[in-house]
Amino acid sequence: MIRTVAIHGYRSLRELVLPLGQLNIITGANGSGKSSVYRSLRLLADVAQNAVVASLAREGGLSSTFWAGPETIARSVKQGVHPVEGLAKRSTASLKLGFGGDDYGYSIDLGYPHPRRRCLAWTRG
Ligand SMILES: Nc1ncnc2c1ncn2[C@@H]1O[C@H](COP(=O)(O)OP(=O)(O)OP(=O)(O)O)[C@@H](O)[C@H]1O
Ligand SMILES: [Mg+2]
Repeated sequence: MIRTVAIHGYRSLRELVLPLGQLNIITGANGSGKSSVYRSLRLLADVAQNAVVASLAREGGLSSTFWAGPETIARSVKQGVHPVEGLAKRSTASLKLGFGGDDYGYSIDLGYPHPRRRCLAWTRG
């Protein structure tokens, strides 16, 4: 049985670790991320079925699945003084999905290096 699902950087889900029971019910206000949880699990299942490329294409491409918010969240944002806003990424773009169960676990990291660092690596290589 799958005991835990973890999602990092998928759409509005910046960091989520979900302990699971035999029956799981997800509730929440509109826009709180229920569909994002479902879609991330769908993507994880598609990875296991060797269908990740088509699945990502249906999502609008890998880039559109990444958490679009800031890489670090300022205290004033946490306190609600300033809204959460997307910023240019400074580090690697990455979406991590995984689960752990009684007998085995699995995780995948989908992404690519920062475009500028990738260019530098090519010019040095
Ligand atoms: N790439 C992204 N990065 C950050 N936030 C995103 C991204 N893509 C979508 N969102 C936001 O994620 C939020 C959660 O949406 P989601 O559809 O999962 O909520 P929901 O709980 O299913 O809402 P509803 O009850 O209306 O169906 C939305 O506010 C949406 O704007
Ligand atoms: Mg929904």
